[in-house]
Amino acid sequence: MNLKEQVGYKAVDFVKDGMVVGLGTGSTVFYFIHALAKKVKEGLNVEMVSTSIQSIELAESLGMKVKNLEEVDRIDICIDGVDEIDKDFNAIKGGGAALFREKIVADIAEHVVWIYDESKDVEKLGAFNLPVEILPFAYNHTIRKMEELGLKPVLRYKDDKVLVTDNGNFIVDLHLGYGFDIKSVENKLASVVGLVEHGLFLNTCKHCIKGTPDGPIIIENPNK
Ligand code: 5RP
Repeated sequence: MNLKEQVGYKAVDFVKDGMVVGLGTGSTVFYFIHALAKKVKEGLNVEMVSTSIQSIELAESLGMKVKNLEEVDRIDICIDGVDEIDKDFNAIKGGGAALFREKIVADIAEHVVWIYDESKDVEKLGAFNLPVEILPFAYNHTIRKMEELGLKPVLRYKDDKVLVTDNGNFIVDLHLGYGFDIKSVENKLASVVGLVEHGLFLNTCKHCIKGTPDGPIIIENPNK
């Protein structure tokens, strides 16, 4: 098993009968969804919601039914990946452009579990550019505002076209650099009109499952 597969399969241990499960997005969650589908076939009874169309399609292709968020009254657990995570359990997410739905699901969820391979572990955030979802309406002005704030925004493209998220919005990646001041960036982003959500997930998870060559390590966040 590769490290992503290892943690994806380990994460199903957190899922219990009767739970409403939030499916994250990405290449690590890909394995979790496969592992969950296996358990469901074996008789595990859960409901699920998703953070992306990609994960809905994967779950459905494996025979599972995914509900809309409006159809559930709670989310018991959310299993998702990260692009970077620091020692204070602050993470950057949105590499897969799903950050807005990921943040909603994480916010509703009672229990958030991040799964990742050890390459995502960092002393400080910032080697990975910070994704931000913005409205297409007046997007060039929103980007200019972020430039004026020194946030170094770069509009994200896919296949030579501006990337459009599941919500019909655009993504800009902020080239902030390693060790950027998290609070200062958060404050600056709060002043930008036209911004839908950003990919800073601060002290969000209760547990991490980190994949290492010696096997998965479960880490509990004492401040959650
Ligand atoms: C998608 C995300 C993903 O969770 C993040 O990009 C990690 O993905 P992967 O497991 O493929 O490395 O935030 O928006």
